[in-house]
Amino acid sequence: MFENWLSRRHLLAHTLAGGGVAGATYLGLTHEVHAEARSKKTEQATNPKLNTYDDNWVTRGECDIELVEWLDQQRITDASVYHFGTGGHHYVGTECAKPARRISVLGITASPQEYQNYVRLVTRRPEVLRYYNAVFGDIYLLNEKLLPSFDLVTLFHICEFRGPQTDAYGGMTDLAVTNLLTDKTRPGGYIFFYTSSFAFDKAKPVIAQWEKERPVERIGDYKSILVYRKAA
Ligand SMILES: C[S@@+](CC[C@H](N)C(=O)[O-])C[C@H]1O[C@@H](n2cnc3c(N)ncnc32)[C@H](O)[C@@H]1O
Repeated sequence: MFENWLSRRHLLAHTLAGGGVAGATYLGLTHEVHAEARSKKTEQATNPKLNTYDDNWVTRGECDIELVEWLDQQRITDASVYHFGTGGHHYVGTECAKPARRISVLGITASPQEYQNYVRLVTRRPEVLRYYNAVFGDIYLLNEKLLPSFDLVTLFHICEFRGPQTDAYGGMTDLAVTNLLTDKTRPGGYIFFYTSSFAFDKAKPVIAQWEKERPVERIGDYKSILVYRKAA
């Protein structure tokens, strides 16, 4: 019984992925497996699920660490940051909230586990909540009406997580996200990319196009982060 159930699940997954149903024929399940696969495919097409990040990233990435170093080097305090990709460590938000910085951060995570970490963190440390808000969401579904202006915007993970699912529910393109967040950067503010991102090759043409479409200037690198400034 258990073996039969397992086989059905594997066959269904295999069929959904475009595989054949030879095993299903052997089990006498061809019709059933086909019908189930058809109905799941229809459901995925008509009611696509959110493209969540199914991990809890707890190792602080060098981009996040270098951003905080850069802020300190520039002696930036009391500013506002939009941060794409909080991680489960919430390093940028908690570091920026410290009394010596008091930089306000709005972070976004597509990971339910990372968001749970945030809830645990600010429940224990309400002083962090005042300066650091994290939302569970999808960067590709940003709504300009729900965003204020920021002094700094991080786009470290641009082009890393967009998938076919994103198209299925009408998510924005990477260029559209980059443009929108640039429009939400105050004149003279900063926009950051991450040159060691695994998707940086994909991001390069997006950045090149963005440079043509928005009043931005590359002002340099700091270790692995690329720093742009929006015209004042
Ligand atoms: C590899 S982790 C890096 C986290 C952190 N920046 C660091 O370097 O340690 C990628 C982050 O991007 C977030 N992410 C992935 N897809 C996303 C999406 N579509 N919208 C918003 N955040 C997303 C994940 O939730 C996660 O926090």
